[in-house]
Amino acid sequence: MKSTPANPSDEWLRQEIARLKKEKNALIMAHYYQRDEIQEIADFIGDSLALARQAAKTDADVIVMCGVHFMGETAKILCPGKTVLIPDTEAGCSLADSCDPVEFENFVKEHPGYTVISYVNTSAAVKANTDIVVTSGNARDIVEKLPADEKIIFGPDRNLGEYINSVTGRDMLLWNGACHVHDRFSIEKIAEMKKEHPEAKILVHPECRRPLQLIADKVGSTAALLDFAAKDDAPEYIVVTESGILFEMRNKCPQKTFLAAPAEDSECQCNQCEYMKLNTLRKVYEALRDGKPEINVDPIVAEKALRPIERMLRMS
Ligand code: 13P
Ligand code: SF4
Repeated sequence: MKSTPANPSDEWLRQEIARLKKEKNALIMAHYYQRDEIQEIADFIGDSLALARQAAKTDADVIVMCGVHFMGETAKILCPGKTVLIPDTEAGCSLADSCDPVEFENFVKEHPGYTVISYVNTSAAVKANTDIVVTSGNARDIVEKLPADEKIIFGPDRNLGEYINSVTGRDMLLWNGACHVHDRFSIEKIAEMKKEHPEAKILVHPECRRPLQLIADKVGSTAALLDFAAKDDAPEYIVVTESGILFEMRNKCPQKTFLAAPAEDSECQCNQCEYMKLNTLRKVYEALRDGKPEINVDPIVAEKALRPIERMLRMS
């Protein structure tokens, strides 16, 4: 095995990652919120839905999931025979953490006769207690496919749930969870930016609070916002989601200006998910070199969680 220099350069890491990837027949997947240098070396970049779809069809032996824990779990549930690596096991998700599996199970039991829809940002244990998993990219379509009088529990993101209720006219029962990144955008700061950039269109992720959804020119998943910007004709956009998405927006639309939106309580000009940013080039290299940290899901939980994930893939 090649020895690792004490302080490997990014170029050295990129070369070694490329070599190890071939040697191990590995696929590197990255979410749009990953650091730029990780998105650059990834074989596949996408939103949560695209990552799940890609995991379901890959013929790689090893998946390196550059995202957060629930994304690695989803890939492992879909591909139990493959090795799924995650560069940093501390890469969690405040939204997934806002839904304790036992409390959720009790909530479901208190509401018999309800169809349970869970956002993909949940633990495998919550998915195991779910009828259909959704992502921000397909939640609306999936809810609209259900009969109009179907009683639905939607968890854990209350902001996404409110958005889906508003666009579908449903009255889903919402779990009171949120993402600490998206819940920290404020309408005041975005309104100030809009004053300074009157031409700019406002792109909002549905995990943001309702007042922000209401002023948006487009509400959508990371992939939907990217697609909107690519097809739209405005010269400038205020992007109200985790700022990692700006990397791909600028790549896809080099002639346009993308402005990151700040969090309400920060001096900084953008809003980042510290969990997403835990993954680094060095950790990707080490994961490939050592074959760890590996994601494993209890087989009984995985079997139960697979059904609602597969139902999502069939319905969208
Ligand atoms: P999407 O990429 O599916 O929009 O997800 C956003 C998110 O918060 C992932 O953690
Ligand atoms: Fe979770 Fe929010 Fe980070 Fe996405 S941005 S991984 S929802 S904490």
